[in-house]
Amino acid sequence: MTQPAKVSFPGVYCSWFDPAKTYVIIGGLGGLGLELSVWMVRRGARKLVLVSSFSIVYLTEHLPQLTIGMYWMRVPRYPTFPDSRNGVKTGYQTKKVAYLKRLGSEVEVAPLNVNTVEKVRNLVTLASKLGPIGGFFNMGLVLDEGPFLELTVQSCLNTAEVKVTTTMLLDQVSREKPLRSTLDHFVVFSSVVAYHGHVGQSSYAFANSVAEQLCEKRKADGLPGLAIQWGAVADVGHVGNMGNHVVICGKYPQRLQSVISVFDYSLGHRNSAVVASYVQADRSASLSGDEESVADQIARAVAKIIGLKDVTAVDGDKEFVELGMDSLMSIEVKQLLERELNLVLSSKDIHLLSFNSLKNLVES
Ligand SMILES: NC(=O)c1ccc[n+]([C@@H]2O[C@H](COP(=O)([O-])OP(=O)(O)OC[C@H]3O[C@@H](n4cnc5c(N)ncnc54)[C@H](OP(=O)(O)O)[C@@H]3O)[C@@H](O)[C@H]2O)c1
Repeated sequence: MTQPAKVSFPGVYCSWFDPAKTYVIIGGLGGLGLELSVWMVRRGARKLVLVSSFSIVYLTEHLPQLTIGMYWMRVPRYPTFPDSRNGVKTGYQTKKVAYLKRLGSEVEVAPLNVNTVEKVRNLVTLASKLGPIGGFFNMGLVLDEGPFLELTVQSCLNTAEVKVTTTMLLDQVSREKPLRSTLDHFVVFSSVVAYHGHVGQSSYAFANSVAEQLCEKRKADGLPGLAIQWGAVADVGHVGNMGNHVVICGKYPQRLQSVISVFDYSLGHRNSAVVASYVQADRSASLSGDEESVADQIARAVAKIIGLKDVTAVDGDKEFVELGMDSLMSIEVKQLLERELNLVLSSKDIHLLSFNSLKNLVES
């Protein structure tokens, strides 16, 4: 009998998650957290712990002067509290968690700000009840940003807590047995801001850099450790919520499907502790030198930053803040005006501009 000839062909890597293990996602109720949870379940994961810092207990501890009813009225972003005791605060999150369960997974939502070693141990105990822990994924985000000179110690601590404190504590506890031997993934979502900085985001850049260095240290110690620097992510999450047309830090938002592919690839290719993924924007938010007037070009560039498709479709007297401009966008506009017109305005002034007042300003 002749031996069959050996044929080799390039393999395609596909991440796979052990259905017997538990995967813990810090910030799991966030935009990326929920989407990647669904993807992980499609790739085998059956036990998830989604960690959120939000709970009614937290609110009542931190806002003792307000009743929950008052808070409810004041914060339209959280119109319902479907199951507020466990951190779920929007209908979308409720639906997604139910969907994860329908896909066949056990899902625990843990309202826990993991900022002490005791809380990490509590989290490990909770997660281990489902099964041995196979991975920690830190996708938490708090952005308490602002111009460097306006930062306070507290604002820096707010931004750093989930990135630095939580990552350090997870690293510390996951070096102990039995976790050390069951953990396959230790992943932190970082940002390209850690690499090249961005106006108004010094503390965010710092916090991400620390998390990255922890991953580098883990890798050097022979442990799993991966930090992924994302540019901007479209469709969901902090940037996706602003629309898919904004340009952040000179990057176009990367579509979710592409983010998932990069995530998949990065989990399997473990050569580096820190990898980056972004879509470089062209300079179309800058002036082109066409026959269009400078004022119109500036207005178009500002509209793009705010995420408006058509400047003419909005009321020209509405202030930018009413059109949805947030602090990050005002900093982008500030940079644009300084770069293109040498015009220096504070972020506060920019919020109060409208397209008409901007046009007058540029023309004068
Ligand atoms: N979206 C982007 O364009 C982008 C770009 C670069 C990097 N990243 C990184 O990707 C990750 C996910 O971003 P995203 O856009 O999905 O953000 P997101 O939608 O704002 O979700 C982040 C979640 O983190 C949770 N969180 C904050 N502090 C926490 C804590 N102490 N413990 C547990 N959860 C905490 C928040 O939920 P609660 O309020 O319920 O706690 C929030 O839902 C972040 O790490 C971010 O830095 C995102």
